[in-house]
Amino acid sequence: MSERAHFVVVANRLPVDRVVADDGTVDWNTSPGGLVTALEPVMRREGGAWVGWHGAPDEEVQPFTHDGYAIVPVPLSSSEFEEYYEGFSNATLWPLFHDTVAFPEFHREWWDAYLIVNRRFAEAAAEVAAEGATVWVQDYQLQLVPRLLRELRPDLKIGFFLHIPFPPVELFLQLPWRRQILEGLLGADLVGFQVAGAASNFLRLVRLRTEHKVERHHVQVGDHVCRAKSYPISIDTEGFRELAESPAAIAEAEALLSDLGHPKVVLLGVDRLDYTKGLRQRIRAVGELFAEGRLDPAEVVFMQVATPSRERVEEYRRLRDDIDLLVGRINSEFGGVGRPPIVYRHAGFPRQTMAAMYRIADVALVTPLRDGMNLVAKEYVACHPGLDGALVLSEFAGAARELKQAYLVNPYDINGMKDVVMRAVEDPPEERRKRMRALQKQVGTHTIDAWADNFLGDLKHYAR
Ligand code: ADP
Ligand code: F6P
Repeated sequence: MSERAHFVVVANRLPVDRVVADDGTVDWNTSPGGLVTALEPVMRREGGAWVGWHGAPDEEVQPFTHDGYAIVPVPLSSSEFEEYYEGFSNATLWPLFHDTVAFPEFHREWWDAYLIVNRRFAEAAAEVAAEGATVWVQDYQLQLVPRLLRELRPDLKIGFFLHIPFPPVELFLQLPWRRQILEGLLGADLVGFQVAGAASNFLRLVRLRTEHKVERHHVQVGDHVCRAKSYPISIDTEGFRELAESPAAIAEAEALLSDLGHPKVVLLGVDRLDYTKGLRQRIRAVGELFAEGRLDPAEVVFMQVATPSRERVEEYRRLRDDIDLLVGRINSEFGGVGRPPIVYRHAGFPRQTMAAMYRIADVALVTPLRDGMNLVAKEYVACHPGLDGALVLSEFAGAARELKQAYLVNPYDINGMKDVVMRAVEDPPEERRKRMRALQKQVGTHTIDAWADNFLGDLKHYAR
């Protein structure tokens, strides 16, 4: 890379994943997850460089240009992939930060790898950033980078955004490396969270476990000030709306409805296959509604798509097996001879197909046990400008703080969830439209551009 960038995003993942087929041919696919969905339009707008891992271990890839900005790949060895990514990031931090809905594992070798890889990302960012540049570090995989980067490059404006929840104090304190993580984040000028409660959890911990002086949302860290605030993330609302209304998506939606045998009601679930997403509870609830005859499998279909995710991590394997079993059992008990009541695909789909699915869904079921934000909820709303459709949303998704007119549920309460799903299906059209109108207003005004402007505007102001 000859030119240095004035705006740099640093994330574990690049927006594209390098995939090598069995015959050796190389392809680049869109990476999974909400972080990439959200940041891609920001990068296209701002330009600059995106520093991240390209998704394939043991491979060095040279920087290249993509959609008008620079892609700077950071390599990971197989053992770093196991210890830093699958281990510390996704078997320690992920469950710990999601209310321990699965047990976090603590291993000292995983921590060592996390430290080594965070240092590599910080060095890569330091190399690519121009004098005085803005560097925006993303998510739980890279919490040590702000401090490491500040040590290397004190001239930079450093922001950090956490896409996932920040846990309550009592849970965070389980972490043997709690102090290092806090100090790592405090290296930033501005630390952003999805919801206000997360920022206050963080500030409480800083107060309890460090010597730095905390005043409201300011922390004095040596000779710089770190601020912590909430910035609820969003989507490219207009982009999704336009896509859902495009002739190609409309044609795809019609073909899909015809494949499904034109059911009267389509329920839809869209998730990465992750145990935080509440899939077991959701499928059980819908299965019971079929079993009790409250939903008629001849008229109603539940379509669930789940992107493969972190497939070698034990909890994810177990989840995949459980869901296969659960869906198979419900379909064999309640299906007729035609289409099954649950149409389940364990696969990722192109964005246009997602828009087509959102379009035909009368009710979206977004029922995570815990979620930083959940962009699927916002995408579904954006794809229903005609005000049809209903959103069933977990109280435990960050999105519930903003989408208050959704049909809110506690996903742990299966009976409660069943009743709310039935209300969403059966409410009079006027009630459904009223709710959808309010959701549209929220998602239409709180867009990804507004999110980036708020965060970057504050960062510029604070880091002067
Ligand atoms: P997370 O970041 O935890 O995966 P989000 O709901 O915030 O959760 O974001 C998920 C993103 O992944 C959304 O943009 C959604 O459209 C996309 N996505 C989820 N499932 C699929 C799928 N099966 N195929 C394609 N994209 C998907
Ligand atoms: O937003 C949560 C998140 O974990 C991102 O950090 C991540 O890129 C995405 O979900 C998908 O997960 P992974 O990168 O582990 O496939």
